[in-house]
Amino acid sequence: MVTIKSKKEIELMKEACKVVAILYEELEKIIKPGMTTWQIDEIAEQIIRQNGAIPAEKGYNVGIKGIPDYPAATCISVNDEVIHGIPSKKKIIKEGDIVSIDTVALKNGFHGDAARTFTVGKISKEAQNLIDITKQAFFEGIKYAIPGNRIGDISHAIGEFVHKNGYSVVREFQGHGIGRQMHEDPGIPNYGKAGRGIRLEPGMTLAIEPMVIQGKPNILELEDGWTIITEDGSLSAHYENTILITKNQPEILTIL
Ligand code: MF3
Ligand code: CO
Repeated sequence: MVTIKSKKEIELMKEACKVVAILYEELEKIIKPGMTTWQIDEIAEQIIRQNGAIPAEKGYNVGIKGIPDYPAATCISVNDEVIHGIPSKKKIIKEGDIVSIDTVALKNGFHGDAARTFTVGKISKEAQNLIDITKQAFFEGIKYAIPGNRIGDISHAIGEFVHKNGYSVVREFQGHGIGRQMHEDPGIPNYGKAGRGIRLEPGMTLAIEPMVIQGKPNILELEDGWTIITEDGSLSAHYENTILITKNQPEILTIL
């Protein structure tokens, strides 16, 4: 079900989103070569809780038999890991790595969801370009996030922009509505035909999240039941914000 949030609900939800925005500003300063993804996750959880929120990914259950509850506060996916990397004491980040962090804060009964790809020390030009294009793809997409347009208009804009730049989008995972639930309708693919899907209306809150691969779009799932990697071993980047559809341009709720 697609939910339209009232003014009051939007005020409450903005607070949840702000926590994620604060978190990423902090992490930008903290991430250094030699840290484990476990350490980053611990710090992230602290920051989320200090800001009066709960890390909603921890214990998250997708409701599919055989897939364990998600064990951490954040998903941390390094280099060829696309999404849902599980923080680990054994995973040490090093100079040149790209580190995608995706997390969801729950506050006031509402969720705020965002992802960023961070750089560790000095990275290659190719890796930086992938990160830049992934972020730009989000902004290309939300140009169409206005009432009267359809979900497919956003999807199409993201996919076209990524492909034009020589990269691939992940087809098996997508953005989503968000609110009292982490994942609400509609699904928002990162590719597709313009003019398709439901019409956008003021009060909708959406998590738009291009997941971009340097090489071929194919992905694999690791045996942990969560981690998604690129099949060809090429790099992947992720950029996500929760946005609010208004009468005019959308508001990005997870940027300060
Ligand atoms: N934050 C992810 C998203 O963008 C969901 C991660 S799944 C979880 O939809 F289990 F880690 F929560
Ligand atoms: Co999301």
